[in-house]
Amino acid sequence: MELIATRNKGAEDILPSQTYIWQTVEDIARSTAATYAFEELRFPTFEKTELFERSVGETTDVVQKEMWTVMGRKSTYTLRPEGTAGAIRAVIQNGLLNDAMPRKLYYLISCFRHENVQKGRLWEFHQFGAEMIGSASPAADAEVIDFAHTLLDRLGLGDTRLCINSIGCPECRRKYYEVLKEYLTPCRDKLCETCQSRFDKNPMRIIDCKVPGDKELVKDAPVITDYLCDECREHFETVKSLLDNMGLEYTVDPKIVRGLDYYTRTVFEFVSDSIGAQGTICGGGRYDRLIDELCGTSVPALGFAMGLERVILAMKEASFDFGEKPCTDIYIGSMGDAGQQLAMKLAKAVREDGYRAECDMCARSVKAQLKYADKTGAKYCLIIGDNEVESKTGSLKNLRTGSQTQIALDDTFADSFLSVEMADSIAFEEEL
Ligand code: HAM
Repeated sequence: MELIATRNKGAEDILPSQTYIWQTVEDIARSTAATYAFEELRFPTFEKTELFERSVGETTDVVQKEMWTVMGRKSTYTLRPEGTAGAIRAVIQNGLLNDAMPRKLYYLISCFRHENVQKGRLWEFHQFGAEMIGSASPAADAEVIDFAHTLLDRLGLGDTRLCINSIGCPECRRKYYEVLKEYLTPCRDKLCETCQSRFDKNPMRIIDCKVPGDKELVKDAPVITDYLCDECREHFETVKSLLDNMGLEYTVDPKIVRGLDYYTRTVFEFVSDSIGAQGTICGGGRYDRLIDELCGTSVPALGFAMGLERVILAMKEASFDFGEKPCTDIYIGSMGDAGQQLAMKLAKAVREDGYRAECDMCARSVKAQLKYADKTGAKYCLIIGDNEVESKTGSLKNLRTGSQTQIALDDTFADSFLSVEMADSIAFEEEL
């Protein structure tokens, strides 16, 4: 029989042994976003294909080669390959451009790109992204980069390399494209087919091509930084001095052009050297023309996104302390109907205090229940049989120390359990 229950290549299951790690990362991301006054935005997994074509750009690898697209009844839809386009679409459509500016938003999303699968490169992956809408000031660039850096620092990745560049505005690019095309003309025929088609439409894309032969050909090509107009140059200089002022270390890498077409002026990447070839953990930049392109209103904006699979790989490499996987606080087992009824009542009472409580759901023997409690790493265990029901007392066992406490199985149970658990925790801390 054909095995249907097989996972697709390029997508990963995240099992309970790993979800607590993801939750730790997500909690740190959310709390860091809150300290920078960013609010969460949620938006659909798919959008009309045209949105990505117009924003990410028709000559990008993402649009030309990597999109997961399906035919609907009337339109063609694409699973989001990134978050900026959908986030900005939602901002425009829901009137958020009328809010007090700058509007600061973040998102935790899954994205989809049909790339060659390897370590840190998947078909379905996850991003934490942030967008600041409504400021053209270099202070916004510095603040957004600082936000990304602070988050990486809180994730134990503070030493990730920050590389920045400015890719200017259309005016700078007009000049740059001329010299770049002049440089590439003699080797035009040797470029990959996609880049040959990009030559006239968007030659800067060729700089970002992943094909090894093309990479070699553009190795010594002119760089955009040498062709910035006065305003773009001044903007970049101010961003750099603000980063210096905040003590953020960076290198200017004129080769960074980013793989998405909406960028203008500042672009940046945080790169880890510990996770292999796909070391770019975070990428972002300014996109002052995107909102105009989508709705005709000119509003500057910028942002970044981190790939969470890569972040977690790097955190593991850096031996980040994720703490212990949370396990059951108390297993309340039982024998017989009366025992089970009482066990379920007491479990409900301790859950009110936030404890993780479990009861027997399989009518198993006491021995099997004890084995289950042990296997699942429960901290305390209590078994209620007819004797316990009658005497309204039971023996609460600490499965870590082996100590036993007699406990009343009545309305005082939750309070008594809380006292025992707290006293044991204090004793455990003191021992450490
Ligand atoms: P991006 O550089 O395309 O930028 O993606 C951001 C991050 O997502 C990358 O640095 C990487 O960590 C992760 N990533 C990308 N593709 C994959 C993949 N196939 N598998 C695993 N991880 C991947 C953007 O997406 C922009 N929207 C960022 C942005 C927000 N710019 C302005 N605002």
